[in-house]
Amino acid sequence: MFGFAKLSVLLLLVPFIAAAPTPEVEERATSFCGQWDTTTAGPYTLFLDQWGLSGASSGSDCATINTVNGNTVAWSTTWSWTGGTGVKSFTNLGANSGLNKQLSAIKSIPAVWTWSQSSSSVVADVAFDLFTSTSSGGSAVNEIMIWLANFNAGPISSTYNSAGQPVPKVSNLSLGGHTWNLYFGSNGANNVWSFLPTSGTVPSFNADINLFIKYLTANEGIATSQFLTTAQAGTEATSGSATLTTSAYSLVIN
Ligand SMILES: *[C@@H]1O[C@H](CO)[C@@H](O)[C@H](O)[C@H]1NC(C)=O
Repeated sequence: MFGFAKLSVLLLLVPFIAAAPTPEVEERATSFCGQWDTTTAGPYTLFLDQWGLSGASSGSDCATINTVNGNTVAWSTTWSWTGGTGVKSFTNLGANSGLNKQLSAIKSIPAVWTWSQSSSSVVADVAFDLFTSTSSGGSAVNEIMIWLANFNAGPISSTYNSAGQPVPKVSNLSLGGHTWNLYFGSNGANNVWSFLPTSGTVPSFNADINLFIKYLTANEGIATSQFLTTAQAGTEATSGSATLTTSAYSLVIN
C-alpha cells in the first residue's frame, strides 16, 4: 500500500518537475560608446564613465552587455587610449541593489568575477571600486579598491620608495583566498585603500568582499557607521589598447 501511495505521488510530481522553468538567459549585443553612456543589466548598471576623456589625444572605449542570467552578467569592453598621463575611463558595472547599508549591518558581499584581457601591454587596472559615506547616499569619504590586475599602473599611495615605487602600508595579507598588499593614500577628496595582488593577476575571483571591508574597519580606522554607497567593478584605462572580457560577474550585498 505504502509503496503504491509513494509511487502515485511521484507520478503526480513528475510533470511538475519536468515543467520546471530553466533559468532565462537574456542575450544582448548593443554596443555603448558614449562618454557617459549607461544601460541597466540585471541588478547592475553599466557605466562607460570616460571621465578623463579630455586628457587623451585620441581613443575610444565601447562596452557591451553580452548576457544577463539573474544576478550574473557577462560583459566586455574594448578600449584604446593615446596621450595624456591619467586614467581616461572607468568602464564598470555598478550595483543598484543593497546599497546604503551601514557597514555594521552588512552580513556578506559574495562576489564572483571571471575575466580575461587581450593584452597586458597597457596601463590599466582591473578592479572593484567601493565608496563609503557618513550618510546614506552621501558624498564619498572613503574609497576601497580591490585590484585583480595591475597592468603597469599603480595604486594611490602616500609613501614611495627611492625607486619611485609605492610602498604598501601592509604586506602579504591573506583575504578571500589570495594574498594582497594594502596601499593607502588620498585622491584629494577621499582616503583610498587599495588591495593589490602580491604577484600576478586574479582572473577568477570568488570571495566575500565584506572580508576586505571588515579588515579595514578592524585595522584601518574606517568607522562601521559608514554607509556603503557604491560598489562597482571594471577597468581604469590610462593608455594602450585592450579588450576586457568578463564571462561571469556577480556581486550581492547582504
Ligand atoms: C611578503 O612575502 C614575501 C614572499 O614570501 C616575502 O619575500 C616578503 O618579505 C614578505 N613581506 C613582508 C613585509 O613580510
